Formats: sequence, C-alpha cells, structure tokens
Amino acid sequence: MTKEQEKILIEKSIASCEGAYVPYSGFHVGACVLGEDGKFYTGFNVENVSYGATICAERSAAINMMTNSSSRKILALAVAAGDTCDTMPCGICRQFLCEFMAPDAPVYTVARNGDYMVKTFAEIMPFAFTSFKKD
Ligand code: THU
Repeated sequence: MTKEQEKILIEKSIASCEGAYVPYSGFHVGACVLGEDGKFYTGFNVENVSYGATICAERSAAINMMTNSSSRKILALAVAAGDTCDTMPCGICRQFLCEFMAPDAPVYTVARNGDYMVKTFAEIMPFAFTSFKKD
C-alpha cells in the first residue's frame, strides 16, 4: 500500500457517499476497496423499507470488485461517513469481509472532511470464524 494508493482509496470512499440511497436513515456511507489487481472499486449503502434488506457500503464495494474483475482479495478498505472518523464496519460486514481480507490488511475509517484512522482487519475482527470441519 503506497501513500498514493492510500490517498486515492480515502478520496474515493468520500466521493462514494454521494450515491448512497438512504431515504430511511439519511446516513450516507461510502466505501472503496483496493483489489489484488491494483484497481479501486467503490460502493455505498443502499437502504430498504424492510430495513433488514439494507446493503452496507462495504459489501457494495466488495461485490462491485468481484462483479467487475477476477480479484477475490481485498488488499485495503476505506469506509467514509459523517463528521468523525469512527464509523466502523458493522458485524455483518466484518464477517462478510473475513472471506476476502487478510488479518494484516488495513481498514481506514474516514470522516467526510478527510480525517481518518487506520486499523488492521484483525484488530476489528479478532477471533474470526473462518473455517469449519464437516461432520
Ligand atoms: N452502514 C454502512 O453502510 N456501513 C457501515 O459501516 C455502518 C452502517 C449503513 C447501513 C444503513 O444504511 C445506515 O448506515 C445506518 O445504519
């Protein structure tokens, strides 16, 4: 992850907030992932009247990557929302991302003014459920 890639990832996550479909919460979330192909894929949250069928920005970005490339590994993730850099991926997204992110992959949480924090994926998803043995 170069400084230039970090800058692009963060900027794209902020820009992606724009497209969010948020008639219920009004909370715009944007995300960007860096695929193993070196390309950036963005996403935003898409809400639903049922609430439960809502898709978060992080899963949108991951699905965008897989739909538009053969990349199946996410090298880095940025998620942007609100005025502070403390919007963390929800539990469902963390479990979903386990499949595609290594423990040492960086996760940037970004405020829309550009402030950010960075953690490793393992820091936000310790003791992850990643495999099982069949009975
Ligand atoms: N949301 C995301 O898209 N990503 C997160 O990391 C946290 C929550 C969305 C889901 C819903 O549309 C709105 O934020 C409020 O929960």
